[in-house]
Amino acid sequence: MERGATHDVIVLGAGAAGLMCAALAGQRGARVLVIDHAEAPGKKILISGGGRCNFTNLGATHDRYLSQNRHFARSALSRYTPADFLALVEKHGIAWHEKTLGQLFCDGSARQIVAMLLAECEAGGVQLALACPVREVAHGDGLFRVAHGERVAVARALVIATGGPAIPQMGATSFAYDLARQFGQKVVQPRPALVPLTLGPEEALFRELSGVAAPVEVRTSHPELGKAKFAEAALFTHRGLSGPAILQISSYWQRGQAVAVNFTPGRAEDWLTAAKRAHPRAQPRRILGEALPDRLVQALCERLDLSGEMGAITDKVLLTAARRMADWPFHPTGTEGFAKAEVTAGGIATDGLSSKTMAFKGVPGLYAIGEAVDVTGWLGGYNFQWAWASAHAAAVDI
Ligand code: FDA
Repeated sequence: MERGATHDVIVLGAGAAGLMCAALAGQRGARVLVIDHAEAPGKKILISGGGRCNFTNLGATHDRYLSQNRHFARSALSRYTPADFLALVEKHGIAWHEKTLGQLFCDGSARQIVAMLLAECEAGGVQLALACPVREVAHGDGLFRVAHGERVAVARALVIATGGPAIPQMGATSFAYDLARQFGQKVVQPRPALVPLTLGPEEALFRELSGVAAPVEVRTSHPELGKAKFAEAALFTHRGLSGPAILQISSYWQRGQAVAVNFTPGRAEDWLTAAKRAHPRAQPRRILGEALPDRLVQALCERLDLSGEMGAITDKVLLTAARRMADWPFHPTGTEGFAKAEVTAGGIATDGLSSKTMAFKGVPGLYAIGEAVDVTGWLGGYNFQWAWASAHAAAVDI
């Protein structure tokens, strides 16, 4: 330990990334202090995955993350993989299962993941200072001084792991960005991601379907991030659209853009005309009801003017209806904001960070990890895998 330092490393934030980084650094011999303003660690882990924590995704490769530098996450993700985290989970005897699409959840409770991280911290001799608001961070003579509560902690390394502002009602803040700016680092405009979208009055018919869910394919195109497409469930809400497919596409959505919904994925363009030949006496509602939930069928039939027997509807009308159902444009008026966002997109700009170590390029000893950084994963365990992997990258460098 250097003269004047009370610790080797101070980690700001006792969330997923901070606890992981502290545990690994501690087990490698560093004297680590974790400071958090919350009274308990890992609060977001506790509410994650519906209380079961979707702790990783088997498909966590860099192309499933959004960032101004699409390759930034590659290095850290390749050196700490879902298999590495799974090995840790199994070492702690935590039962798990794959739900769908490579998403791994605890069989029991997200509390097990927090307990595991705390046990790993204990094994590394990590000190936790909870309910400690950080008053000031100063840097000089190669040391970081962190004034928290009534005390000042001093260390040669400082890790920013205070996450992003999603769910401020849980104590989430933009502190990481303020600190990064203090050290001359740029911040990519933070915005809510994995968030429900809102619809305006002209699409009110769909808002009346609140509670209806359907498997769909959604598409949008972002000027910088490019095209995105997801096939999962969508849910109509009293404010607009939600469900996994919509949360996924929301990360790529920009104000003014449309989101195209395919209500009949996998169906050929002529499926309605084929159904007409096979069932000329059937009502369109019965035919659509084979593919879609009843209330949605009713709304679509009204919008598409489909009524009477199938045999009496022209092929042209049926083809137009099939095409519209396969490419229904919604024009969201906005998102439900940080209050309902699962994560924050944007954050500390990656161009000032080393992708190998997560260290600030111009400030030796300073690191940023987890959601605070401009790396945002898809829905489904990707964000925790980024937290673990970026924490690992920093811990082995400290
Ligand atoms: P995280 O937010 O976990 O931790 C930051 C810590 O810093 C907190 O303890 C906070 O109190 C502290 N802090 C903030 N400001 C501070 C300040 N000024 N001073 C001191 N401390 C401060 N992801 C996933 O992969 N699978 C999932 O199942 C889910 N589920 C999910 C559900 C819900 C409802 C939400 C809101 C989010 C998820 N996520 C998720 C996302 C996941 O929770 C998120 O990406 C990680 O928790 C990010 O980890 P970090 O450690 O970077 O931030």
